[in-house]
Amino acid sequence: MELGLVTLLRAAWVAVILPIVIASIPSAKLSWFHQLLSGYAKRGKTMQPSSYKFTVPQRFFSHFYMMAVAWTTLLLLTTWLYACKEAPMTSESFHFSHLASYLTGGSHVFSFHKSHLTPVEYRYRVWRSVLLLLLMEAQVLRRLFETFYVFNYSPSARMHIFGYLTGFFFYIAAPLSLCCTYAPEVFKFTLNLVSEFIVRGKNQMPAIEIDWLEAINPLLKLGWGQWIGCAIFLWGWIHQRRCHAILASLRAHSEQVDDYVIPTGDWFELVSSPHYLAEIVLYAGLVIASGGDLTVWLLFLFVVANLGFAAAETHRWYLRKFENYPTNRFAIIPFVY
Ligand SMILES: NC(=O)c1ccc[n+]([C@@H]2O[C@H](COP(=O)([O-])OP(=O)(O)OC[C@H]3O[C@@H](n4cnc5c(N)ncnc54)[C@H](OP(=O)(O)O)[C@@H]3O)[C@@H](O)[C@H]2O)c1
Repeated sequence: MELGLVTLLRAAWVAVILPIVIASIPSAKLSWFHQLLSGYAKRGKTMQPSSYKFTVPQRFFSHFYMMAVAWTTLLLLTTWLYACKEAPMTSESFHFSHLASYLTGGSHVFSFHKSHLTPVEYRYRVWRSVLLLLLMEAQVLRRLFETFYVFNYSPSARMHIFGYLTGFFFYIAAPLSLCCTYAPEVFKFTLNLVSEFIVRGKNQMPAIEIDWLEAINPLLKLGWGQWIGCAIFLWGWIHQRRCHAILASLRAHSEQVDDYVIPTGDWFELVSSPHYLAEIVLYAGLVIASGGDLTVWLLFLFVVANLGFAAAETHRWYLRKFENYPTNRFAIIPFVY
């Protein structure tokens, strides 16, 4: 079952990346496919009123962030409890883990999945998943807050139903990809706890005691790869928050809620979609913090492909809409694209 879930997730990521890659090939024969996919991907300002069939309001973004917060919180709490109870880490075992890893040349930041893990390595990786889920929680909580309290979605802004469903897929698969190797074990552990609760009743349950130091300490001792990943994640997280605040402020002084303006400040000086660039940066942080896990790599590649595609569309829209649009701005990757 363990391998089944990992394989299923990887196959799902490949299945959603491939069409975007094919649609991005600059070939006249594939232009119909490009048109088809960009019709599904358009939203808000890039969507023409004539293509409003099978669309939902863009403020429905909040639906998948509500689901994402509930799902990520569930995965985080159950994986964290499992880590504390079934994979506790003493300082000695951490020390041993690092030493053994160093001697065997393992645990490199860009190494791919290894199937034969020692118990210590296994525990180490469970705690690494807890860290990744904590970062994801910070991301989805901020995005939920922004959809309600920061963005001022125009009542006429729509997105294709296909994009809406892709959002649900993404926020189910992304948090799960961060802990998929252990998710079946965590599921069994949680199921046992719930069955025990049902059979014994609340009063007969042994109290679940959590030593807060032991619940937090292992996270602080994970390793340099995780610290670097966290720093990169935070860098992207902070810039995305700033860029979203800039976008939201554009309509604050406007009479019309669907007026568009050329944004300036922060990474907007470099690219047209810095909030997408920031999203790519923060998922790159997750890849590094995961130790280069293949499933997290595939999740990252999807984010790059999906947002790269949307950013190209947005850049073309800005060039068409504003004659005085800064010519030194790139679409999403500064000085490259
Ligand atoms: N991980 C993923 O695969 C993924 C996929 C999609 C989105 N996201 C993330 O979700 C966040 C929001 O994405 P989004 O596509 O909704 O962003 P967006 O289309 O750029 O829109 C964000 C908000 O800003 C407004 N806005 C944009 N440009 C404006 C301008 N020039 N003048 C005035 N208002 C403007 C939009 O209005 P309109 O609605 O009227 O355009 C909308 O209300 C991004 O940071 C992105 O990274 C992630």
